Amino acid sequence: MTVSVSPARPEDAAELAALAALTFPLACPPAVTPEDSDAFVAANLSKEAFEAYLADPSIRVLVIREGGHIRGYALLVFLPPADPEVVAALQTVPGPAAELSKCYVHPAAHGSGLAAALMEAARETAAAEGFRSLWLGVNDLNVRAQTFYRKSGFTKVGRRSFDVGPHTFRDFILAAPLARTTGRE
Ligand SMILES: CC(C)(COP(=O)(O)OP(=O)(O)OC[C@H]1O[C@@H](n2cnc3c(N)ncnc32)[C@H](O)[C@@H]1OP(=O)(O)O)[C@@H](O)C(=O)NCCC(=O)NCCS
Repeated sequence: MTVSVSPARPEDAAELAALAALTFPLACPPAVTPEDSDAFVAANLSKEAFEAYLADPSIRVLVIREGGHIRGYALLVFLPPADPEVVAALQTVPGPAAELSKCYVHPAAHGSGLAAALMEAARETAAAEGFRSLWLGVNDLNVRAQTFYRKSGFTKVGRRSFDVGPHTFRDFILAAPLARTTGRE
């Protein structure tokens, strides 16, 4: 089947929301109930939320398609972080740093290499915008994602708080340097 990575289009919002609703719970630790997860998805990963992300010039959504269906997505944020813990952690990495805010692949495609292709496209996209590093937050119990990020060149640079419903998790902050390109200086 043909695999391609490309920027998401406005008409992808509904398919992205469906994939996000399926995959967000996979990133959550057991303390997160289905109700907590549903509320987070409704507030942050709905069709309307994706329409807003896709219209925001400081955000880039990449999709990986296989056989015409979206099998994974990455959401990059090109704004400086506001969280003081993230700001402090990123002092140790080359700047400026873009955030890989979301990186999700359909469970049937885990281990298939699609996530690596998506990550490569995310890195190239951020580098082309002139960023020197990519950073992200990941739950400390999400070992599969941590293993994937480590394989992708990320190292732990700090911790930050992340709220899901009534829970505040102390996520790991990971960062990876990006290759220099002729972009923003
Ligand atoms: C994170 C994600 C995109 C990575 O994609 P993937 O296809 O699963 O990644 P890969 O299979 O290439 O890499 C995962 C690695 O973790 C390993 N792994 C899987 N379960 C593991 C576990 N419980 N403990 C340790 N390692 C584990 C895999 O064997 C693999 O390593 P290998 O290639 O050396 O065998 C995907 O798992 C995903 O979408 N997960 C759900 C959503 C999520 O957690 N997103 C990240 C939010 S921060």
